Amino acid sequence: MPHFLSPTITLPNLPFKSGEYEFAYEAQCRADSHQSLILVRFWQNDTSHNESLPDEFFLRKVERPSKNNSIIKCEKSSKAQPTGIIKNAIKTLMEQQSNQHLITHNLNNNSPRQNLQSPFFKSVKYFLDFSQKCLIEVGFGSGRHLLHLAKSNPHLICIGIEIHSPSIEQILRQIELLGLKNLYIIHTDARILLEILPSCIAEGIYVHFPVPWNKKPHRRVFCKAFLQESLRVLDDNGVLHLRSDDEIYFRDALNLALSYKHINLQVQKNHKNAIVSKYEARWERQNKDIFDLKIFKTSSESQDSHMKSAKNAQNAEKNFNFDKILRKNLDNYTDFPYKKIAKDWFLHIDNVYCAGGVYVLTLCFGDFNQPQSKFLQISFCATYTTHYISGDPIPTKAAYLAHKHLIEFLNLADSTKVRSEV
Ligand SMILES: C[S@@+](CC[C@H](N)C(=O)[O-])C[C@H]1O[C@@H](n2cnc3c(N)ncnc32)[C@H](O)[C@@H]1O
Repeated sequence: MPHFLSPTITLPNLPFKSGEYEFAYEAQCRADSHQSLILVRFWQNDTSHNESLPDEFFLRKVERPSKNNSIIKCEKSSKAQPTGIIKNAIKTLMEQQSNQHLITHNLNNNSPRQNLQSPFFKSVKYFLDFSQKCLIEVGFGSGRHLLHLAKSNPHLICIGIEIHSPSIEQILRQIELLGLKNLYIIHTDARILLEILPSCIAEGIYVHFPVPWNKKPHRRVFCKAFLQESLRVLDDNGVLHLRSDDEIYFRDALNLALSYKHINLQVQKNHKNAIVSKYEARWERQNKDIFDLKIFKTSSESQDSHMKSAKNAQNAEKNFNFDKILRKNLDNYTDFPYKKIAKDWFLHIDNVYCAGGVYVLTLCFGDFNQPQSKFLQISFCATYTTHYISGDPIPTKAAYLAHKHLIEFLNLADSTKVRSEV
Protein backbone atom coordinates (compact mmCIF):
# COMPACT_ATOMS: atom_id res chain seq x y z
CA MET A 1 0.00 0.00 0.00
CA PRO A 2 1.74 3.25 -1.12
CA HIS A 3 2.25 5.65 1.80
CA PHE A 4 4.60 8.01 3.62
CA LEU A 5 5.01 8.47 7.34
CA SER A 6 6.16 11.63 9.06
CA PRO A 7 6.03 13.10 12.60
CA THR A 8 3.58 15.72 11.32
CA ILE A 9 2.07 16.30 7.90
CA THR A 10 1.40 19.77 6.56
CA LEU A 11 -0.63 20.03 3.40
CA PRO A 12 -0.13 22.91 0.95
CA ASN A 13 -3.01 25.38 0.69
CA LEU A 14 -5.79 23.60 -1.17
CA PRO A 15 -6.68 23.57 -3.99
CA PHE A 16 -3.10 22.91 -5.05
CA LYS A 17 -1.94 22.03 -8.57
CA SER A 18 1.24 20.22 -9.52
CA GLY A 19 1.77 18.82 -13.03
CA GLU A 20 -1.08 16.50 -13.91
CA TYR A 21 -2.41 16.53 -10.33
CA GLU A 22 -4.85 18.75 -8.55
CA PHE A 23 -5.36 18.30 -4.80
CA ALA A 24 -8.84 19.73 -4.44
CA TYR A 25 -9.78 19.64 -0.76
CA GLU A 26 -9.23 17.92 2.56
CA ALA A 27 -12.47 16.64 4.10
CA GLN A 28 -12.37 16.00 7.83
CA CYS A 29 -14.08 12.94 9.30
CA ARG A 30 -16.87 14.19 11.55
CA ALA A 31 -16.60 11.30 13.99
CA ASP A 32 -12.80 11.17 14.20
CA SER A 33 -10.79 14.38 14.00
CA HIS A 34 -7.61 12.39 13.28
CA GLN A 35 -8.88 11.11 9.91
CA SER A 36 -9.36 13.01 6.68
CA LEU A 37 -9.74 12.38 2.95
CA ILE A 38 -7.87 14.36 0.29
CA LEU A 39 -9.53 14.49 -3.12
CA VAL A 40 -7.03 14.16 -5.98
CA ARG A 41 -7.84 14.90 -9.62
CA PHE A 42 -5.51 13.41 -12.21
CA TRP A 43 -5.60 14.98 -15.68
CA GLN A 44 -4.42 12.61 -18.40
CA ASN A 45 -1.77 14.06 -20.67
CA ASP A 46 -2.66 11.60 -23.35
CA THR A 47 -5.65 13.15 -25.13
CA SER A 48 -6.36 9.95 -27.09
CA HIS A 49 -7.00 8.11 -23.83
CA ASN A 50 -10.07 9.75 -22.50
CA GLU A 51 -12.53 12.56 -22.62
CA SER A 52 -11.42 15.74 -20.85
CA LEU A 53 -12.72 14.75 -17.41
CA PRO A 54 -10.06 13.98 -14.81
CA ASP A 55 -9.81 10.73 -12.85
CA GLU A 56 -10.73 11.37 -9.24
CA PHE A 57 -9.60 9.43 -6.20
CA PHE A 58 -8.98 9.90 -2.48
CA LEU A 59 -5.86 9.70 -0.35
CA ARG A 60 -6.34 9.17 3.37
CA LYS A 61 -4.50 11.17 6.04
CA VAL A 62 -4.38 9.70 9.53
CA GLU A 63 -2.85 11.40 12.57
CA ARG A 64 -1.68 8.86 15.14
CA PRO A 65 -0.98 10.73 18.40
CA SER A 66 -0.20 7.52 20.29
CA LYS A 67 2.65 6.81 17.85
CA ASN A 68 3.71 10.43 17.41
CA ASN A 69 3.34 10.25 13.67
CA SER A 70 0.98 10.80 10.75
CA ILE A 71 0.52 8.86 7.53
CA ILE A 72 -0.77 9.58 4.03
CA LYS A 73 -1.81 6.47 2.19
CA CYS A 74 -3.78 5.11 -0.71
CA GLU A 75 -7.52 4.88 -0.04
CA LYS A 76 -9.76 1.97 -1.12
CA SER A 77 -11.37 4.05 -3.85
CA SER A 78 -7.97 4.48 -5.52
CA LYS A 79 -7.30 0.80 -6.01
CA ALA A 80 -8.65 0.77 -9.57
CA GLN A 81 -6.03 3.37 -10.57
CA PRO A 82 -2.62 2.25 -11.84
CA THR A 83 -0.30 2.13 -8.82
CA GLY A 84 2.10 4.62 -10.41
CA ILE A 85 -0.57 7.35 -10.54
CA ILE A 86 -1.30 6.96 -6.83
CA LYS A 87 2.37 6.76 -5.86
CA ASN A 88 3.17 9.95 -7.75
CA ALA A 89 0.25 11.75 -6.08
CA ILE A 90 1.49 10.74 -2.61
CA LYS A 91 5.06 11.62 -3.60
CA THR A 92 3.92 15.11 -4.64
CA LEU A 93 2.52 15.66 -1.13
CA MET A 94 5.63 14.15 0.46
CA GLU A 95 7.82 16.64 -1.41
CA GLN A 96 5.74 19.46 0.06
CA GLN A 97 6.76 18.60 3.62
CA SER A 98 9.00 21.28 5.04
CA ASN A 99 10.00 19.39 8.18
CA GLN A 100 12.16 17.07 6.06
CA HIS A 101 12.40 14.36 8.67
CA LEU A 102 10.32 11.71 7.04
CA ILE A 103 10.17 8.49 8.97
CA THR A 104 9.60 6.15 6.07
CA HIS A 105 7.94 5.75 2.65
CA ASN A 106 7.61 3.16 -0.11
CA LEU A 107 7.33 5.45 -3.12
CA ASN A 108 10.66 4.88 -4.88
CA ASN A 109 10.06 1.76 -6.87
CA ASN A 110 7.91 3.45 -9.49
CA SER A 111 8.52 1.40 -12.61
CA PRO A 112 6.99 2.37 -15.98
CA ARG A 113 4.83 -0.75 -15.71
CA GLN A 114 3.02 0.77 -12.76
CA ASN A 115 2.15 3.85 -14.81
CA LEU A 116 0.82 1.85 -17.69
CA GLN A 117 -2.16 3.44 -19.36
CA SER A 118 -3.74 1.28 -21.98
CA PRO A 119 -6.60 1.62 -24.45
CA PHE A 120 -7.30 -2.06 -23.74
CA PHE A 121 -8.01 -1.40 -20.05
CA LYS A 122 -11.76 -0.83 -19.98
CA SER A 123 -14.16 0.41 -17.34
CA VAL A 124 -17.45 -1.25 -16.45
CA LYS A 125 -19.14 1.69 -18.16
CA TYR A 126 -17.65 0.56 -21.46
CA PHE A 127 -19.52 -2.74 -21.22
CA LEU A 128 -22.95 -1.27 -20.50
CA ASP A 129 -23.65 -1.01 -24.24
CA PHE A 130 -21.36 -3.79 -25.36
CA SER A 131 -22.80 -6.13 -27.99
CA GLN A 132 -19.88 -7.81 -29.80
CA LYS A 133 -19.34 -11.56 -29.96
CA CYS A 134 -16.76 -12.46 -27.38
CA LEU A 135 -14.87 -14.93 -25.21
CA ILE A 136 -14.61 -14.21 -21.50
CA GLU A 137 -12.05 -15.39 -18.95
CA VAL A 138 -12.76 -14.99 -15.26
CA GLY A 139 -9.76 -14.58 -12.92
CA PHE A 140 -7.02 -14.91 -15.57
CA GLY A 141 -4.13 -14.58 -13.09
CA SER A 142 -0.83 -14.81 -15.00
CA GLY A 143 -2.89 -14.55 -18.21
CA ARG A 144 -1.28 -17.42 -20.14
CA HIS A 145 -4.60 -18.96 -21.17
CA LEU A 146 -6.24 -15.60 -21.93
CA LEU A 147 -3.36 -14.50 -24.19
CA HIS A 148 -3.62 -17.83 -26.00
CA LEU A 149 -7.39 -17.30 -26.46
CA ALA A 150 -6.85 -13.83 -27.93
CA LYS A 151 -4.03 -14.97 -30.25
CA SER A 152 -5.98 -17.94 -31.59
CA ASN A 153 -9.31 -16.09 -32.01
CA PRO A 154 -8.42 -12.85 -33.79
CA HIS A 155 -12.02 -12.54 -35.11
CA LEU A 156 -13.46 -12.35 -31.57
CA ILE A 157 -13.12 -9.85 -28.73
CA CYS A 158 -11.65 -11.51 -25.66
CA ILE A 159 -12.46 -10.08 -22.24
CA GLY A 160 -10.33 -10.78 -19.18
CA ILE A 161 -11.88 -10.07 -15.77
CA GLU A 162 -9.63 -9.80 -12.70
CA ILE A 163 -9.69 -8.32 -9.21
CA HIS A 164 -5.88 -8.50 -8.68
CA SER A 165 -4.20 -5.28 -9.88
CA PRO A 166 -0.65 -6.68 -10.44
CA SER A 167 -2.08 -9.39 -12.76
CA ILE A 168 -3.86 -6.65 -14.71
CA GLU A 169 -0.75 -4.51 -15.04
CA GLN A 170 1.23 -7.54 -16.18
CA ILE A 171 -1.23 -8.58 -18.91
CA LEU A 172 -1.62 -5.01 -20.22
CA ARG A 173 2.13 -4.98 -20.77
CA GLN A 174 1.90 -8.32 -22.62
CA ILE A 175 -0.92 -7.01 -24.84
CA GLU A 176 1.32 -4.10 -25.81
CA LEU A 177 4.38 -6.30 -26.44
CA LEU A 178 2.43 -8.81 -28.53
CA GLY A 179 0.51 -6.09 -30.42
CA LEU A 180 -2.86 -7.72 -29.67
CA LYS A 181 -5.90 -5.68 -30.67
CA ASN A 182 -8.76 -7.94 -29.56
CA LEU A 183 -8.14 -8.31 -25.82
CA TYR A 184 -9.90 -6.08 -23.29
CA ILE A 185 -9.15 -6.15 -19.59
CA ILE A 186 -11.46 -5.13 -16.80
CA HIS A 187 -10.82 -4.73 -13.08
CA THR A 188 -13.96 -5.91 -11.34
CA ASP A 189 -15.67 -8.83 -9.68
CA ALA A 190 -16.72 -11.20 -12.48
CA ARG A 191 -20.08 -11.86 -10.83
CA ILE A 192 -20.91 -8.17 -11.16
CA LEU A 193 -19.81 -7.81 -14.79
CA LEU A 194 -21.80 -10.85 -15.89
CA GLU A 195 -24.96 -9.35 -14.43
CA ILE A 196 -24.73 -6.26 -16.64
CA LEU A 197 -23.62 -7.89 -19.93
CA PRO A 198 -26.27 -8.42 -22.62
CA SER A 199 -27.61 -11.89 -23.37
CA CYS A 200 -26.28 -14.31 -26.02
CA ILE A 201 -22.96 -12.58 -26.81
CA ALA A 202 -20.32 -15.01 -25.48
CA GLU A 203 -19.07 -18.08 -27.31
CA GLY A 204 -17.13 -19.19 -24.26
CA ILE A 205 -16.71 -18.31 -20.58
CA TYR A 206 -13.61 -19.76 -18.91
CA VAL A 207 -13.08 -20.16 -15.18
CA HIS A 208 -9.74 -21.88 -14.65
CA PHE A 209 -8.51 -22.77 -11.18
CA PRO A 210 -10.77 -20.44 -9.20
CA VAL A 211 -10.01 -20.06 -5.50
CA PRO A 212 -11.95 -22.99 -3.90
CA TRP A 213 -13.14 -21.23 -0.72
CA ASN A 214 -14.33 -24.58 0.62
CA LYS A 215 -14.74 -23.16 4.12
CA LYS A 216 -16.55 -20.03 2.86
CA PRO A 217 -18.41 -21.22 -0.26
CA HIS A 218 -20.40 -17.95 -0.46
CA ARG A 219 -17.17 -16.32 -1.66
CA ARG A 220 -16.87 -18.59 -4.68
CA VAL A 221 -17.11 -17.13 -8.17
CA PHE A 222 -18.92 -20.20 -9.46
CA CYS A 223 -22.26 -19.93 -7.63
CA LYS A 224 -25.93 -20.28 -8.60
CA ALA A 225 -26.29 -16.65 -9.73
CA PHE A 226 -23.03 -16.84 -11.70
CA LEU A 227 -24.17 -19.97 -13.53
CA GLN A 228 -27.54 -18.42 -14.31
CA GLU A 229 -25.98 -15.20 -15.65
CA SER A 230 -23.35 -17.16 -17.61
CA LEU A 231 -26.07 -19.22 -19.34
CA ARG A 232 -27.88 -15.98 -20.19
CA VAL A 233 -24.72 -14.29 -21.56
CA LEU A 234 -23.64 -17.38 -23.56
CA ASP A 235 -24.76 -17.70 -27.15
CA ASP A 236 -26.38 -20.95 -28.37
CA ASN A 237 -23.84 -23.78 -28.16
CA GLY A 238 -21.54 -21.54 -26.15
CA VAL A 239 -19.57 -23.21 -23.37
CA LEU A 240 -18.91 -22.41 -19.73
CA HIS A 241 -15.64 -24.17 -18.91
CA LEU A 242 -14.60 -24.80 -15.31
CA ARG A 243 -11.14 -26.32 -14.81
CA SER A 244 -10.12 -27.07 -11.23
CA ASP A 245 -7.80 -29.15 -9.09
CA ASP A 246 -10.36 -29.06 -6.26
CA GLU A 247 -12.71 -32.03 -6.33
CA ILE A 248 -15.19 -30.52 -3.85
CA TYR A 249 -15.49 -27.35 -5.92
CA PHE A 250 -15.85 -29.38 -9.10
CA ARG A 251 -18.59 -31.60 -7.61
CA ASP A 252 -20.52 -28.62 -6.20
CA ALA A 253 -20.38 -26.91 -9.62
CA LEU A 254 -21.55 -30.12 -11.32
CA ASN A 255 -24.49 -30.41 -8.90
CA LEU A 256 -25.48 -26.81 -9.60
CA ALA A 257 -25.33 -27.44 -13.35
CA LEU A 258 -27.45 -30.61 -13.07
CA SER A 259 -30.40 -28.54 -11.87
CA TYR A 260 -30.63 -26.88 -15.31
CA LYS A 261 -32.74 -28.49 -18.02
CA HIS A 262 -31.45 -27.35 -21.39
CA ILE A 263 -27.72 -27.89 -21.26
CA ASN A 264 -25.21 -30.50 -22.36
CA LEU A 265 -22.50 -31.50 -19.97
CA GLN A 266 -19.03 -32.86 -20.52
CA VAL A 267 -16.80 -34.03 -17.68
CA GLN A 268 -13.14 -34.95 -18.06
CA LYS A 269 -10.41 -35.95 -15.64
CA ASN A 270 -6.72 -35.20 -16.18
CA HIS A 271 -7.29 -33.96 -19.70
CA LYS A 272 -4.23 -32.13 -21.06
CA ASN A 273 -4.75 -28.57 -22.21
CA ALA A 274 -2.68 -26.81 -24.87
CA ILE A 275 -1.81 -24.11 -22.34
CA VAL A 276 -0.65 -24.91 -18.82
CA SER A 277 -1.32 -22.02 -16.44
CA LYS A 278 0.96 -21.14 -13.53
CA TYR A 279 -1.42 -22.74 -11.05
CA GLU A 280 -1.90 -25.83 -13.17
CA ALA A 281 1.87 -26.30 -13.41
CA ARG A 282 2.03 -26.24 -9.61
CA TRP A 283 -0.67 -28.90 -9.25
CA GLU A 284 0.96 -31.01 -11.95
CA ARG A 285 4.22 -31.02 -9.99
CA GLN A 286 2.22 -32.24 -6.97
CA ASN A 287 0.60 -34.94 -9.11
CA LYS A 288 -2.92 -33.70 -8.34
CA ASP A 289 -5.98 -34.67 -10.37
CA ILE A 290 -7.43 -31.99 -12.63
CA PHE A 291 -11.18 -31.83 -13.32
CA ASP A 292 -12.90 -30.25 -16.33
CA LEU A 293 -16.59 -29.39 -16.40
CA LYS A 294 -17.93 -28.05 -19.71
CA ILE A 295 -21.50 -26.76 -19.71
CA PHE A 296 -22.87 -26.20 -23.22
CA LYS A 297 -25.91 -24.00 -23.66
CA THR A 298 -28.39 -25.68 -26.00
CA SER A 299 -30.62 -23.60 -28.26
CA SER A 300 -33.75 -24.37 -26.20
CA GLU A 301 -32.09 -22.61 -23.27
CA SER A 302 -31.72 -19.57 -25.52
CA GLN A 303 -33.47 -16.36 -24.54
CA ASP A 304 -35.88 -14.48 -26.78
CA SER A 305 -34.00 -12.27 -29.17
CA HIS A 306 -35.40 -9.15 -27.53
CA MET A 307 -33.63 -10.09 -24.25
CA LYS A 308 -30.35 -8.75 -25.57
CA SER A 309 -31.58 -5.22 -26.12
CA ALA A 310 -33.76 -5.47 -23.02
CA LYS A 311 -30.66 -5.91 -20.86
CA ASN A 312 -28.97 -2.84 -22.34
CA ALA A 313 -32.13 -0.81 -21.83
CA GLN A 314 -32.36 -2.12 -18.28
CA ASN A 315 -28.81 -0.90 -17.58
CA ALA A 316 -29.62 2.52 -18.98
CA GLU A 317 -32.83 2.73 -16.96
CA LYS A 318 -30.94 2.55 -13.69
CA ASN A 319 -29.85 6.11 -13.31
CA PHE A 320 -27.87 6.97 -10.22
CA ASN A 321 -28.83 10.63 -10.00
CA PHE A 322 -29.97 12.45 -6.89
CA ASP A 323 -32.69 15.02 -6.47
CA LYS A 324 -32.11 17.86 -4.08
CA ILE A 325 -30.58 16.64 -0.84
CA LEU A 326 -31.52 18.21 2.50
CA ARG A 327 -28.32 19.60 3.98
CA LYS A 328 -29.80 19.50 7.47
CA ASN A 329 -30.03 15.72 7.17
CA LEU A 330 -26.30 15.54 6.73
CA ASP A 331 -25.69 18.00 9.55
CA ASN A 332 -28.11 16.42 12.00
CA TYR A 333 -27.50 12.72 11.56
CA THR A 334 -24.76 11.61 13.94
CA ASP A 335 -25.54 7.96 14.40
CA PHE A 336 -23.02 6.57 11.89
CA PRO A 337 -22.50 3.90 10.76
CA TYR A 338 -26.00 3.75 9.32
CA LYS A 339 -26.98 0.26 8.18
CA LYS A 340 -29.99 -0.94 6.23
CA ILE A 341 -30.17 -4.65 5.56
CA ALA A 342 -32.89 -5.82 3.15
CA LYS A 343 -33.50 -9.30 1.73
CA ASP A 344 -31.28 -9.06 -1.37
CA TRP A 345 -29.31 -5.86 -0.79
CA PHE A 346 -27.84 -3.65 1.88
CA LEU A 347 -26.64 -0.07 2.38
CA HIS A 348 -23.96 0.90 4.85
CA ILE A 349 -23.07 4.59 5.34
CA ASP A 350 -19.85 4.39 7.24
CA ASN A 351 -19.30 8.05 7.92
CA VAL A 352 -19.47 11.60 6.71
CA TYR A 353 -16.48 13.84 5.93
CA CYS A 354 -16.73 17.62 5.50
CA ALA A 355 -14.72 20.32 3.80
CA GLY A 356 -16.71 23.55 4.13
CA GLY A 357 -19.77 23.12 1.95
CA VAL A 358 -18.57 19.79 0.55
CA TYR A 359 -19.75 16.56 2.20
CA VAL A 360 -18.37 13.12 1.42
CA LEU A 361 -20.23 9.97 2.42
CA THR A 362 -18.29 6.72 2.61
CA LEU A 363 -20.57 3.95 1.39
CA CYS A 364 -20.66 0.20 1.00
CA PHE A 365 -23.74 -1.35 -0.62
CA GLY A 366 -25.30 -3.74 -3.09
CA ASP A 367 -25.23 -7.50 -2.98
CA PHE A 368 -23.96 -9.15 0.24
CA ASN A 369 -21.40 -11.27 -1.63
CA GLN A 370 -20.25 -8.61 -4.11
CA PRO A 371 -20.46 -5.31 -2.20
CA GLN A 372 -19.43 -2.09 -3.91
CA SER A 373 -17.51 0.60 -2.02
CA LYS A 374 -18.03 4.17 -3.16
CA PHE A 375 -17.76 7.77 -2.05
CA LEU A 376 -20.61 10.16 -2.64
CA GLN A 377 -19.63 13.81 -2.90
CA ILE A 378 -22.34 16.40 -2.23
CA SER A 379 -21.37 20.00 -2.75
CA PHE A 380 -23.46 22.89 -1.46
CA CYS A 381 -20.86 25.40 -2.68
CA ALA A 382 -21.66 27.98 -5.42
CA THR A 383 -23.67 25.37 -7.35
CA TYR A 384 -25.27 22.30 -5.82
CA THR A 385 -23.79 19.10 -7.29
CA THR A 386 -23.81 15.46 -6.30
CA HIS A 387 -21.77 12.65 -7.77
CA TYR A 388 -20.20 9.32 -6.98
CA ILE A 389 -16.41 9.68 -7.05
CA SER A 390 -14.84 7.87 -10.01
CA GLY A 391 -18.18 7.15 -11.63
CA ASP A 392 -21.59 5.72 -10.84
CA PRO A 393 -21.90 2.33 -9.16
CA ILE A 394 -22.08 -0.70 -11.42
CA PRO A 395 -25.81 -0.90 -12.19
CA THR A 396 -26.65 -4.21 -10.58
CA LYS A 397 -30.16 -4.63 -9.22
CA ALA A 398 -28.89 -4.69 -5.64
CA ALA A 399 -26.82 -1.51 -6.11
CA TYR A 400 -29.78 0.31 -7.61
CA LEU A 401 -32.07 -0.63 -4.71
CA ALA A 402 -29.43 0.58 -2.24
CA HIS A 403 -29.09 3.85 -4.17
CA LYS A 404 -32.84 4.40 -4.02
CA HIS A 405 -32.78 3.85 -0.28
CA LEU A 406 -29.91 6.35 0.03
CA ILE A 407 -32.06 8.94 -1.76
CA GLU A 408 -34.86 8.30 0.75
CA PHE A 409 -32.46 8.63 3.65
CA LEU A 410 -31.04 11.92 2.36
CA ASN A 411 -34.47 13.37 1.60
CA LEU A 412 -36.23 12.30 4.75
CA ALA A 413 -37.89 15.19 6.56
CA ASP A 414 -36.13 14.32 9.81
CA SER A 415 -33.25 11.90 9.42
CA THR A 416 -32.46 11.99 13.13
CA LYS A 417 -35.49 9.73 13.63
CA VAL A 418 -33.95 7.06 11.40
CA ARG A 419 -32.23 4.21 13.14
CA SER A 420 -29.98 1.62 11.61
CA GLU A 421 -31.78 -1.65 10.94
CA VAL A 422 -29.44 -4.57 11.22
C1 LIG B 1 -6.06 -19.34 -8.27
S1 LIG B 1 -5.96 -18.01 -9.37
C2 LIG B 1 -6.00 -18.78 -10.96
C3 LIG B 1 -5.45 -17.90 -12.04
C4 LIG B 1 -5.49 -18.46 -13.45
N1 LIG B 1 -6.83 -18.70 -13.92
C5 LIG B 1 -4.66 -19.71 -13.55
O1 LIG B 1 -5.21 -20.74 -13.92
O2 LIG B 1 -3.45 -19.66 -13.29
C6 LIG B 1 -7.58 -17.29 -9.22
C7 LIG B 1 -7.64 -15.91 -9.82
O3 LIG B 1 -9.00 -15.46 -9.80
C8 LIG B 1 -9.03 -14.09 -9.42
N2 LIG B 1 -10.35 -13.85 -8.83
C9 LIG B 1 -10.81 -14.29 -7.63
N3 LIG B 1 -12.09 -13.91 -7.44
C10 LIG B 1 -12.46 -13.22 -8.56
C11 LIG B 1 -13.66 -12.56 -8.95
N4 LIG B 1 -14.73 -12.56 -8.15
N5 LIG B 1 -13.68 -11.94 -10.15
C12 LIG B 1 -12.59 -11.93 -10.96
N6 LIG B 1 -11.42 -12.54 -10.62
C13 LIG B 1 -11.35 -13.17 -9.45
C14 LIG B 1 -7.87 -13.96 -8.43
O4 LIG B 1 -7.42 -12.62 -8.32
C15 LIG B 1 -6.83 -14.87 -9.06
O5 LIG B 1 -6.00 -14.19 -9.97
